[in-house]
Amino acid sequence: MSPRFFQCYVENAAEVVLELARGLLARDACIAPKFFYDLLGSRLFAAITALPEYYPPRVEAEIFSIYRDEITHALGTQGTLIDLGAGNCEKVARLFPALQPAQYVAVDISVEFLRDALAHLSRQYPDTDMLGVGADFSTRLDLPAEVADKRRTFFYLGSSIGNFSGADAAMLLGRLRQNMKTGDGLLIGMDLVKASATLVAAYDDALGVTAAFNRNVLLHVNRILGSDFKLEDWRHVALFNTQAARIEMHLEAVRDVRIAWPGGSRLFAAHERIHTENAYKYTPESARTLLQQAGLAVRQLWTDPMRYFALLYATPEA
Ligand SMILES: C[S@@+](CC[C@H](N)C(=O)[O-])C[C@H]1O[C@@H](n2cnc3c(N)ncnc32)[C@H](O)[C@@H]1O
Repeated sequence: MSPRFFQCYVENAAEVVLELARGLLARDACIAPKFFYDLLGSRLFAAITALPEYYPPRVEAEIFSIYRDEITHALGTQGTLIDLGAGNCEKVARLFPALQPAQYVAVDISVEFLRDALAHLSRQYPDTDMLGVGADFSTRLDLPAEVADKRRTFFYLGSSIGNFSGADAAMLLGRLRQNMKTGDGLLIGMDLVKASATLVAAYDDALGVTAAFNRNVLLHVNRILGSDFKLEDWRHVALFNTQAARIEMHLEAVRDVRIAWPGGSRLFAAHERIHTENAYKYTPESARTLLQQAGLAVRQLWTDPMRYFALLYATPEA
């Protein structure tokens, strides 16, 4: 069965161009982290997951391996698995033998990368019904009618929720909640607060792969907006903002530089920064509170022996 694909996100749509221009013109310039993920960005992220400093995928996998039976029992089998920000689809695919999904739905903004990943997966599991949805779920989550509503489990892994501030994260989870009914659930991975040196190293590795991932956003923006960023004018900065409990990634101008695009321009002074990512870190309590705000009750919370990362299973509150 070859996967069906629904393309709901168009990279150079007027609203996307407008969002980028607004961010660049804001007093504190910013580019949303979803723009990291063009084809090269997704490949660079896959490389990041192999870095010794980037612990989240290893630790998340460790939790899956320690609690495999409990997780399988909580999620049940033969249901609909909806993988938000699926990337290369590998994490959820590893659970196929245990969960035996009736349908797998992979949702991602990185459309080309997702198409390839899903095509590869469907060759491994030719009998599983698979849907690909190219969508930006940061603003809305409209699942195609073809998504089965039999026992839906949403997966939001890799602590991707950490890219959203408290209010935005609660809104995103609230939209998820609206797509759930009794018997459905959410399995979410959330990175926990830990020593600042460990956190910063994870976002500023010795090889410079995360720096390349961060700087690549400028090439992506150039393609969408028609801007003229040059890589040599920008350096990668990663820091832990202790008060806000978040890693921040920025791109810092190494000299005065004027950036122009059709309909706009901005002068960045040397050392001025563009904020490209927040990655919020949680405590088990703050993670529970966030889910509760969205009308989701945490049924189970699993963590690794070092308490680096948490996997939470939540269901709609009655
Ligand atoms: C940190 S990666 C995680 C990938 C994979 N789930 C994992 O845990 O390894 C985030 C993924 O979410 C996707 N993504 C980021 N922002 C998105 C958005 N607003 N809408 C849809 N997908 C998004 C990216 O393309 C990327 O594949």
